[in-house]
Amino acid sequence: MMALFRLVLLLFLSSCTAVLADVLIDSGVVSVYSCSENSTIATPQMSANIDSLVAQLTSSTSQNRFSVATYGKGTDQVYGLGQCRRDVNIKDCARCLRNATLSIRTFCANRADVWMWYNDTCTLRFHDSKFFGTVDPSSFTNYYLGDHPQHPSAFKKQLDALISKVSSEAIVPANEAVGKGSSFSVASNATIYALAQCTRDLSQHSCNECLNIVTGNLLKFCNNEKTVGCRVASTACYVHYETYQFYYPLDS
Ligand SMILES: *[C@@H]1O[C@H](CO)[C@@H](O)[C@H](O)[C@H]1NC(C)=O
Ligand SMILES: *[C@@H]1O[C@H](CO)[C@@H](O)[C@H](O)[C@H]1NC(C)=O
Ligand SMILES: *[C@@H]1O[C@H](CO)[C@@H](O)[C@H](O)[C@H]1NC(C)=O
Ligand SMILES: *[C@@H]1O[C@H](CO)[C@@H](O)[C@H](O)[C@H]1NC(C)=O
Repeated sequence: MMALFRLVLLLFLSSCTAVLADVLIDSGVVSVYSCSENSTIATPQMSANIDSLVAQLTSSTSQNRFSVATYGKGTDQVYGLGQCRRDVNIKDCARCLRNATLSIRTFCANRADVWMWYNDTCTLRFHDSKFFGTVDPSSFTNYYLGDHPQHPSAFKKQLDALISKVSSEAIVPANEAVGKGSSFSVASNATIYALAQCTRDLSQHSCNECLNIVTGNLLKFCNNEKTVGCRVASTACYVHYETYQFYYPLDS
């Protein structure tokens, strides 16, 4: 099984904190994730509970594109969340969560506090303490790749406006915590596509708070916005932009 996975692990140390930013690239699929060094799987029972938890999440999430679950008792109890983007069908959702699980269990093997945004498609998180509804302002992962924009200051202006638009869409409950859109600007000579997502355990207020923190950090995490594509993820929300259409066309 392992041999099927040709995985390249790139590690970036973010410039401002000691939080390790992790990116996993597997045949073109990019996933951003974090395994906190502060929480380890203490017992075989906890590890078994995590296996049961993610199996349960995979089946319940693919029905509704979102679920939370708790598994086990006492100090071995674990909490989990699964979510798929709102246009992802049941089959792809389950497949995505299985892929995310396999990656997490491989690369975060002994960790009990783990989250991953997999290929813009699904999110999986588990933790040995209850995290539902909370925003962690200290945990970030970022990944950028690509050229400088032709006209950096026009590009930045266009990008900021677009990110603000898709973020305000993501906090509307009817949108299932997803905002997406594109814009073209003559001044920047660029079309930008952007996606903003929150995990659906967050209130509208907390989603807004989370996205404000993440987008407020775009300058810091995206090479001063001097790159044509970047993603910044935290435990509970995620922003991604590119100059090509990187997500499936959503309904509407
Ligand atoms: C781990 O714990 C230390 C000390 O409490 C904290 O400073 C650090 O931010 C934590 N790391 C993560 C990834 O949560
Ligand atoms: C899951 O991973 C397999 C093997 O890498 C890949 O072929 C498949 O497209 C992936 N599916 C999803 C939904 O991520
Ligand atoms: C716009 O970008 C295209 C593709 O990079 C380039 O060929 C063209 O010269 C640019 N036009 C202007 C006005 O900068
Ligand atoms: C990754 O996402 C892209 C865009 O949504 C999709 O076309 C592709 O099939 C996905 N790949 C996998 C392996 O899931």
